Amino acid sequence: MNASSCDKDSFNSLERCYSREVVASPGTSGWPFVGQTLEFLKAGWSGHPEKFIFDNIKKYRSLIFRTHLAGSPAVVFCGAAANKFVFSNENKLVQLWWPKTITKLIPSTSNFEESLKLNKMLHNFLTPKTLEPYIGFLDIIAQRHFASHWDNREQVTVFPLMTNFSLALACRLFINVDDPELVEKLADPLEQVLRGTVSMPIDLPCTRYNCAIKSSRFIINEFTTIVKQRKTDLEQGTYKSPTQDLLSHMLLTGDDNFVKDSNIAEKILGLIIGSDTVGSACSSIVMFLAKLPDVYERVYKEQMEIANLKSLGELLTWNDVNNKMKYSWSVACEAMRLAPPIQGTFREALTDFIYEGFLIPKGLKIYWNANSTHKSAEYFPKPKEFDASRFDGQPVQPYTFVPFGGGPRMCPGKEYARIEILIFMHCLVKRFKWKTMIPSEKLIVDDRFRPEKGLPIRLFPHPKA
Ligand code: HEM
Repeated sequence: MNASSCDKDSFNSLERCYSREVVASPGTSGWPFVGQTLEFLKAGWSGHPEKFIFDNIKKYRSLIFRTHLAGSPAVVFCGAAANKFVFSNENKLVQLWWPKTITKLIPSTSNFEESLKLNKMLHNFLTPKTLEPYIGFLDIIAQRHFASHWDNREQVTVFPLMTNFSLALACRLFINVDDPELVEKLADPLEQVLRGTVSMPIDLPCTRYNCAIKSSRFIINEFTTIVKQRKTDLEQGTYKSPTQDLLSHMLLTGDDNFVKDSNIAEKILGLIIGSDTVGSACSSIVMFLAKLPDVYERVYKEQMEIANLKSLGELLTWNDVNNKMKYSWSVACEAMRLAPPIQGTFREALTDFIYEGFLIPKGLKIYWNANSTHKSAEYFPKPKEFDASRFDGQPVQPYTFVPFGGGPRMCPGKEYARIEILIFMHCLVKRFKWKTMIPSEKLIVDDRFRPEKGLPIRLFPHPKA
């Protein structure tokens, strides 16, 4: 059996090879070619992405069910035990898998070995210790973003602004470029790439996918120029920076994988796309804070206690972000529980194996997802209610809160995302209160997890003291 032969018939033939008790998981392959992708997407567009998961759990009375998603037969794993199984069997029984639409747009995802190496490097680079010296720089960039896009405006549309925010911070951290013009130049192509990640993979002129591929190439070219220049500067000893950015780190480690300029540029694009996820988290935080005045007041109080101790122009420090923003982080976690910025990702079975009595043949895609635990009353009582105190005291049960995934493939940007979200919350509540302009606006899953209409809000600046 090979990966591509993993269809309904091969399930049945494999089933016959094993003992009688072992069965293929229940489920359906849906329509030819598209499978159940449309049902899956429709649930996301309606603002209830968990519906696809919970409807099928109910229908098959099983936390594992078979389907066909993103062009491949797949099995959906649900619940904390399934998350634990997937995350602890990385590179043993399963390995990361991305749909073709994504690997073509973000070439760095297509080479498994390289992406594993990069991930290891990121886990070393994006640690609290290495991020600590950056807090002040990130604060400066965040303040500049607010000054040019939020201050002196009566209303803004939050979600599109977040791409600019994340991109500006990421350019500083990853390539040490602090250039608002470059950010403006890359923001639109980046949007096109992100839109293309969930699209029909039809590469014909003017299709969404085709625009995304062109935009991806454009960004990679821009980054390649920066990489070339940096190489020269490093060789000639003319590159000076108070902090070491990721690009210099990659070049100086001298790993064979990071020799080709365009290869490095592709990896930076992958990271920029990963870091755009912060925008989904921040947008849902803005929406929840608008709807929950008591929560807003507590976040405001916490952030103003930090702001009031600062003299004019004094920047945020590691101590502020790490030790004084506990409630704000609980709010962010609760927002990510209710609105996971990434709903789930795929793995591929490396070998035939049996899980919970079900046969998982080699090559089958496995979709783990955050909603099956985040929105289950078994792990989070009254799961639909926003209650930041869930993250205040006792740690939550393992493998139930998984916005960043888990195991060796857990998001390497987790710590950086936390810092970025908290700096965003600080800059925002310090300046404004706000009201949503479309009270019934939903959070939906489309190309990304986002507010349906981009989240237009009316801003009410705090009176100057
Ligand atoms: C709130 C913000 C973020 C959330 C919720 C998030 C979530 C995730 C999730 C769920 C995964 C997949 C994990 C898995 O399959 O087990 C992932 C992977 C990844 N994330 Fe994030 N992420 C965020 C921010 C970031 C940032 C800021 C970066 C930038 C460094 C980043 C870079 C990546 C990369 C490179 C991967 C792929 C890792 C691999 O190939 O193993 N993410 N993220």
